[in-house]
Amino acid sequence: MDKKELLYSGKAKSIYKTDDENKLVVEFRDSLTAFDGSKKSEAKNKGYYNAQISRKVFEMLESNDIKTHYIDMISDTEMLVESVEIVPIEVIVRNIAAGSITKKYPMEKGTRFKNPILVLDYKSDEYSDPMINEDIAVALGITDYEEIEKLRSLALKINELLVDYLDKSNLLLPDFKLEFGRKDGELLLADEISCDTCRLWDKETEESMDKDVFRYDKGDLSKVYEEVARRIIPEIFN
Ligand code: C5P
Repeated sequence: MDKKELLYSGKAKSIYKTDDENKLVVEFRDSLTAFDGSKKSEAKNKGYYNAQISRKVFEMLESNDIKTHYIDMISDTEMLVESVEIVPIEVIVRNIAAGSITKKYPMEKGTRFKNPILVLDYKSDEYSDPMINEDIAVALGITDYEEIEKLRSLALKINELLVDYLDKSNLLLPDFKLEFGRKDGELLLADEISCDTCRLWDKETEESMDKDVFRYDKGDLSKVYEEVARRIIPEIFN
């Protein structure tokens, strides 16, 4: 599979065309940003750890009948994926109160939710990813009610699988973000599932093991991501 020209470069990943129009290459980079791009940095090996964690999680989900865009790794930091039409909605699942929800509502950090909370954000740099509901999404013309129902049930199923999976590595999953893409009438899980897109807390200490380390200057991000990788994918350290 030959990697061709750069299609798009985002804050932490670059997307390349390949010689097959149905496939793309996602390169996970060491750059990182927070707070709408206003805080920027680089962290050594961040791209490698996120690429490998995403790969492992996609493989776990595929083995549980969740369809994803993941095809293969073509290098340590480059993932071959299906080319999909991205649904411009970020699906956020919350199990424990943290981050923006504790600022917008009277919810104390660390509160365990009885039922997972699902939030939809409209993917738009121009409007700073505003929270939307089903009616707004349909009025925007970006989806329909049937597709939103599928997004919801897929996100909840993925949440159940992930919570169980991460528990085995002594990690809690307060919240995370998913993106989906359309391909041949199906919804595929797209983007990444990594320390950049999940809140992960150590089960015993509840210390952050995710991008909050960078957002709130809580320590050495590369070391923290390495520790998550050691727990989830010990085999890459052999
Ligand atoms: O900022 P907030 O608390 O709403 O984020 C909820 C979850 O979604 C966090 O795990 C965060 O890392 C993730 N997220 C993301 N990309 C965004 C917004 C949120 O990965 N654009």
